[in-house]
Amino acid sequence: MATMADVARSAGVSVATVSHVLNGTRPVSPGTRRAVLDAVDVLGYTPNTLARSLVTARTRSIGLAVSAISNPYFTEILQGVEAAALEAGYGLLLADPHDDPLQERKVAQLLHERRVDGMIVAPSAQPGELTDYLGRHAVPTVFLDRLIDPPGSGDGTAAAATPGAPFFDQVCAESTGPMARLVAHLAGLGHRRVGLIAGLAGLSTTRERVTGYLDGLAAAGLAHDDRLLVSGNSESAGAERATTALLALPDPPTALVTANNAMTLGALRALRRHGRSVPEDIALCCFDDFPWADLFSPRLTAIAQPSRELGARAVRLLLERLAEPDRPSRTVRLPCAFVHRTSCGCPEEPERPEAAAHSTSAALSEIPPEPPSEKGTTS
Ligand code: HPA
Repeated sequence: MATMADVARSAGVSVATVSHVLNGTRPVSPGTRRAVLDAVDVLGYTPNTLARSLVTARTRSIGLAVSAISNPYFTEILQGVEAAALEAGYGLLLADPHDDPLQERKVAQLLHERRVDGMIVAPSAQPGELTDYLGRHAVPTVFLDRLIDPPGSGDGTAAAATPGAPFFDQVCAESTGPMARLVAHLAGLGHRRVGLIAGLAGLSTTRERVTGYLDGLAAAGLAHDDRLLVSGNSESAGAERATTALLALPDPPTALVTANNAMTLGALRALRRHGRSVPEDIALCCFDDFPWADLFSPRLTAIAQPSRELGARAVRLLLERLAEPDRPSRTVRLPCAFVHRTSCGCPEEPERPEAAAHSTSAALSEIPPEPPSEKGTTS
């Protein structure tokens, strides 16, 4: 197997010059650069990144831990992470902790032992052990999709990083405003009893979407009926049960909002089983668009999350932290798009161009880090 010394000899340059060309660590004249790359090509030289890692203490790899990778929302996030990492010259190590708090702690340790340069993690609903581990080992981390409370907030999700040394940033899609928008849309169509199939307790996305639901009701002047807010635990079977419970109420909702794509499927299954048609018997709006949402009949009115961009942004945040470890922690929220179709009860708009029927906004809105809380914690 050809070595760097073989390349240097063949190109008539020093080993250091070969290293500078391959690692981009110092400018090299175009002629010399060409000679080195030609020699690499002819000799079939392949750099040994393991050996380089021993010298640089960097592996140019990112650990990615997301649950439910078969869910199109997370699959698209993964594609965004992968493309951005590859472009920056980073490889990925992927793990699925299955939303299990113990498993995610184990996964974090495994990835850390492989010496990934940093991690991107969608934390579970009980991320205390995970954040303790990452904080204790000061692993540069970006939390994705589900936000965690800032270090020191004392609720079991506190990260015990060295005081004053931030180690994490966060990126998620906006949830509250888009959810309120769905409720406002249904209220505008005359619905007075709007049900919500909410996600798993403990997830920030669940909290925010419930808040958005309540905001939307309040803005429309609708009274909140506790019985219309049910948990589908973020999964299809849970939503199927929750929808069945809503339909059994003496005064069931006339419209339904589901808080993620998996729960949309469960709700649709329950509605079909109970012979309810959408939107004639009950209107339906969904959080999460997916590529086949417009193939349902009726076509699903949905909030589209910028999933690929979330993944790409997570990589950029991580690379920025690796370059500048002491920078203040940031929380970035990306906007969603309202995709107006017909399950809400609105008529088909034949003149609407097809491209606009499945579009996501690329605009970004960045918010500053949380202001210091009463406990004096900034993230
Ligand atoms: N978070 C946000 N959006 C989602 C999720 C989730 O866990 N699952 C499906 N859509």
